[in-house]
Amino acid sequence: MDPDSRRVLLVDDEPRVIEMIGAVLEAQGFDVTLAGSPVAAVRELQASPFAAVVTDVVFDGVDAGQKILAACHDLRPTAIVLLMTGYPAIEGAVQAMRGGAVDYLPKPVDSVVLAATLHRTIRQQQIRSDTLEYTDLVDILSDLVANTIERVDPYTAGHGERTRRYCRVIAERLGLARPTIERLELAAIAHDYGKIYLDDLGFLTKKGPLTAGEYRQVQKHPELGAEMLGRNPYLREVCRYVAEHHERWDGTGYPLRLEGEEITPAGRILCVVEVFDSLSTRRSYKDPWELPKTMDFFESQSGRAFDPAVVDSFLSLLEVHGEEWLAEPQRDRQAAGLTPTS
Ligand SMILES: [Fe+2]
Repeated sequence: MDPDSRRVLLVDDEPRVIEMIGAVLEAQGFDVTLAGSPVAAVRELQASPFAAVVTDVVFDGVDAGQKILAACHDLRPTAIVLLMTGYPAIEGAVQAMRGGAVDYLPKPVDSVVLAATLHRTIRQQQIRSDTLEYTDLVDILSDLVANTIERVDPYTAGHGERTRRYCRVIAERLGLARPTIERLELAAIAHDYGKIYLDDLGFLTKKGPLTAGEYRQVQKHPELGAEMLGRNPYLREVCRYVAEHHERWDGTGYPLRLEGEEITPAGRILCVVEVFDSLSTRRSYKDPWELPKTMDFFESQSGRAFDPAVVDSFLSLLEVHGEEWLAEPQRDRQAAGLTPTS
């Protein structure tokens, strides 16, 4: 990853505030430069590139948000700008957003929320570039998911990457074309990314089943993900697979209740694998499934929830790799610092 994509300029006239926030951002992998005034910020922008500028709006009682924003546009047009603002300055922040700032965070700023917002906005900015190669997109999407959705819900650590690997094996067996397989892999990494845009992230870590209303909210995530990733033409097909990952062969899925071959072959593979990985993952309210129960489930859903051709291929893979694949979520959770049974 380009080291400049980690460079953040933090601007505030309260040294203790930015030193504290800066330390948290450094701990999360950012390379932080501090500036105590708009003049110092402009000097830094002239001297070096930054992926993001995080700035206060009011300095010594003067609204300088627009000035810093204008300097960013002139000197570092690809840098994203996030504003930190107290209540009286919200209007200035809203105006600055009309001028191109991407978001604002209320003061006092929660450093962890700021870090997550930075990861998301920097990656989204990079995704828009039309010069990215497949491997760049793998890196960007993996980082985006690891630092947003998998951070909010640690139970899902590694879910995107595992889903990617299993999808690739099935797709190769079923003879999908190489470009389609690459797009399916990208969709597998990012299929649940839309969850980060749900109104209430508490649903994601709720202990126990969701209420009907919460479930309706969560059902928005395939379309939200497709919409938020959809600014790059190369990702158009990827977004289609993301949008399809909860559709079902018999038309009982969501959001569009697509049926059979209305769902793309890549989307049908993603549907099967995504469910498998969820069944094999321990949650606070359920143990991971064992292999015989898992195989019985997929057999029973062949031609119902899932495409029979995909299920056939998947079952023959489970006969060989099933035990190993079912153990992987627990291994990834340990690697992420969670105990295997928590
Ligand atoms: Fe999902």
